Amino acid sequence: MNLYTATTIVALLLAVTAIAAGQEQEFLARSRRSLNDVPLGGIKPFSEKQAEEQLQRTLDKLTAGEGPHYRIAKVYSASRQVVSGTLTRIDADLVDSNEDQHRCIVEIWAQPWLAQGHDITFKCRNQPVVRARHSRSVEWAEKKSHKKHNHHALDKVDHLFHKFQIKYGRRYANTMERQMRMRIFRQNLKTIAELNENEMGSAKYGITEFADMTSTEYKQRTGLWQRDEGKATGGAPAVVADYPGEVPKEFDWRQKNAVTQVKNQGQCGSCWAFSVTGNIEGLYSLKTGDLQEFSEQELLDCDSVDSACNGGLPDNAYKAIKDIGGLEYESEYPYLAKKKQCHFNKTLAHVKVSGFVDLPHGNETAMQHWLLNNGPISIGINANAMQFYRGGVSHPWKVLCQKSNLDHGVLVVGYGVSDYPNFHKTLPYWIVKNSWGPRWGEQGYYRVYRGDNTCGVSEMATSAVLA
Ligand SMILES: *[C@@H]1O[C@H](CO)[C@@H](O)[C@H](O)[C@H]1NC(C)=O
Ligand SMILES: *[C@@H]1O[C@H](CO)[C@@H](O)[C@H](O)[C@H]1NC(C)=O
Repeated sequence: MNLYTATTIVALLLAVTAIAAGQEQEFLARSRRSLNDVPLGGIKPFSEKQAEEQLQRTLDKLTAGEGPHYRIAKVYSASRQVVSGTLTRIDADLVDSNEDQHRCIVEIWAQPWLAQGHDITFKCRNQPVVRARHSRSVEWAEKKSHKKHNHHALDKVDHLFHKFQIKYGRRYANTMERQMRMRIFRQNLKTIAELNENEMGSAKYGITEFADMTSTEYKQRTGLWQRDEGKATGGAPAVVADYPGEVPKEFDWRQKNAVTQVKNQGQCGSCWAFSVTGNIEGLYSLKTGDLQEFSEQELLDCDSVDSACNGGLPDNAYKAIKDIGGLEYESEYPYLAKKKQCHFNKTLAHVKVSGFVDLPHGNETAMQHWLLNNGPISIGINANAMQFYRGGVSHPWKVLCQKSNLDHGVLVVGYGVSDYPNFHKTLPYWIVKNSWGPRWGEQGYYRVYRGDNTCGVSEMATSAVLA
């Protein structure tokens, strides 16, 4: 039950209680005195004809749904009160389906801005009170009568799916595909609910552009290969110097001109290239004072160890940049989200790389010091919690986001702490730049809990070494 429904019912119960407590006469008498000026909350009579029309509409809708089934014999009087919606009270003789006639007070509580429609109470002499509800549309009432048990869930999924299609411009080839996508969407709503229920941080999960995709389809938008644990990474162990002075509580390379705008890898498993260019953009800016965007497409086309849209590893990409001879600017070698012929031009190599360093695995303190001293860091992460991430500090249960299963390459650009004094809770976090465009997450960024290697955030931290 949502808040609005609860409020409506509480309001209705209060009204019913007040009347049932024998205050009815006084209530009406008081209302008659304020006939000429009807403030909010005042009661105003209206014509028997109007009342009969409204009662008829209401009874028609109830008949189309689950009832009760009455027809009007005679309307005596009616009044209308405006309190958080409109409460209409009609005094009438009604005939039930057994042709028995009853003198009834019918109360219709309408909140036109709410989808769930009207609450109706029948208080008939010597009869138990009957409550009913109808929506504003007869179609809805019909659906309800056919699908008593899951009508609401169906209606809601349908509505959410429709909104999703509009927001993300989804067009499906035919009805069959739409139905298949809707089934996936419904399943994903359950996953979203599960993520929200089990969240230990402050993150909210909800409908994203990936909401009609299976997890296999979603994984094609990441693209990080697993490291071969038996083999050396090829990187030198990073020398982590202690940050000189007091370690700041918060730090963000975005505020120091070291992070370019959020990019979008599109339908291509090229995260590894974006993670690496992000790292190099930061190092290059810190070295030269010039923030430039570097080309991922060059890596897709010219790095023959990695596999363009079918995934790759930052470890390989650093070596490839060294071998190719440097990186061109994004504007010179623009992104196409698919592999093409390599057309690297040596005279446009603006940054060169001599190798890379590998940060200590699973040590977030080392990562923090290294970040402060050197710049943004390329990391591998388990992207399970990212498919439906909408914002907040993400701290999923370990079993839902194993550190051994890194499948996405991203960029750590800073860190901070969220304080929730009312809950005696603080949430330290990493600020992570993603490559799914600025509409995803927090303007393209992900905040993930810092301190227990959540989703393997510090398992595969690396950085290029500029030549
Ligand atoms: C490489 O870039 C330079 C500078 O823009 C240009 O003059 C040259 O023609 C390019 N070479 C090729 C092979 O495209
Ligand atoms: C993690 O790194 C910090 C800073 O470099 C170091 O002092 C600490 O000993 C490391 N912790 C472990 C468990 O290796």
